[in-house]
Amino acid sequence: MNNDHEKENAAIASLDYVTHDCILGVGTGSTVNYLIENLDRVKHKIKSVVSSSVDSTRRLQSAGFIVEELSTVGKPDLYIDGADEVDSSHNLIKGGGGAHTREKIVASASNEFVCIVDDSKLVTRLGAFPLPVKVIPESRSLVARKIVSMGGTPIYRAGFVTDQGNHILDIQDLDISNPEAVEVLLNNIPGVVDNGIFAFNKPKTVLVSK
Ligand code: 5RP
Repeated sequence: MNNDHEKENAAIASLDYVTHDCILGVGTGSTVNYLIENLDRVKHKIKSVVSSSVDSTRRLQSAGFIVEELSTVGKPDLYIDGADEVDSSHNLIKGGGGAHTREKIVASASNEFVCIVDDSKLVTRLGAFPLPVKVIPESRSLVARKIVSMGGTPIYRAGFVTDQGNHILDIQDLDISNPEAVEVLLNNIPGVVDNGIFAFNKPKTVLVSK
């Protein structure tokens, strides 16, 4: 299914949330790429830009933006990002692009998080999309065994290395009926850097395009 038009519509709708003198946090992924392509429309309102990945930084720079470090700008006013799944309480699964650690950091640091998705991302319960868990390479098999003991089926994302040099296990069959509990439980496994559940850093606003 090609949802490019819907992704672009959601991205364009989010431009309304950019206010004057905005410090903007920018997520990662194909929906956000449409945001970056259209960001020129509100450039006059943007004070500075913070990125969540090497790929988004490169795209932002190509579009003429100077990308600053989160530590330098402090608190972004707004964070805009996509998602792989969104439930009715705005809990998310993210990390299809493997950038969820930095995404969660910028989301957490920001005053407001607006999520942009097409309606194929809406779910009643999280978990059909394999949940990305980022691990330091040495811990991969330990983490995989712990996840199996929790009822999950971990699949190693072969050949993929994150911006920070870590690996990803994509987890199927896990019961995510309590997203907050699962987010905490997974992050307590030694060697897990972060997992793709956004239950503690979820968006106030989800813009859905059909
Ligand atoms: C990257 C992400 C993306 O937001 C998520 O994968 C959605 O991507 P897309 O907009 O390409 O469907 O979490 O780590």
